[in-house]
Amino acid sequence: MLKFKKNGVKNICLIGMMGSGKSLIGKDLSKIYKIDFIDTDIEIEKKVGKNINLIFNEYGEDYFREIEEEVCLKVLEYDNCIISMGGGSIINFKIRNVIKKNSFSIYLKVSRDILIKRLNKSKKRPLLNDKNKEDVINTLYQKRKIFYEKADLIIQNNDEKKDIINQIRNNIQ
Ligand code: S3P
Repeated sequence: MLKFKKNGVKNICLIGMMGSGKSLIGKDLSKIYKIDFIDTDIEIEKKVGKNINLIFNEYGEDYFREIEEEVCLKVLEYDNCIISMGGGSIINFKIRNVIKKNSFSIYLKVSRDILIKRLNKSKKRPLLNDKNKEDVINTLYQKRKIFYEKADLIIQNNDEKKDIINQIRNNIQ
């Protein structure tokens, strides 16, 4: 069982922009602590029965955000999990409030240049398809950073994976 100084913590939530390494780091942490790893995008895909691209294309972003709210609020009530939160979930105030109340949140902060490099080839991010990726990333980041930066722990994720994991471990009892 994970232990934290903050009261009422049920899970560790990884937050940050798409491409910030939430799933990669989250899977490693879940192996280290031998607890479950949940990726909210995968839960959304299972619930709808389609991948994220198809959900955006066929039903639109508003529908995706509705399902995202439902799924995130559900998984945030689980116990003792590492949860990778979809990058845009933080703009939803209900999700934000529950994260604040019952999770230990970790913001994986990545420089814009690295994000752009990582996301340039991604075909899995509908918000970036057929758009100027740099502009979209800048706009999304500007809207979201105020929320990301309220995390319980901020980790600059530009280093080696093992260094990131060590920094996180040093902050978790
Ligand atoms: C989104 C991020 C994606 C996914 C969807 C929208 C966003 O998740 O939920 O494509 O708005 O930033 P990841 O952050 O896991 O890539």
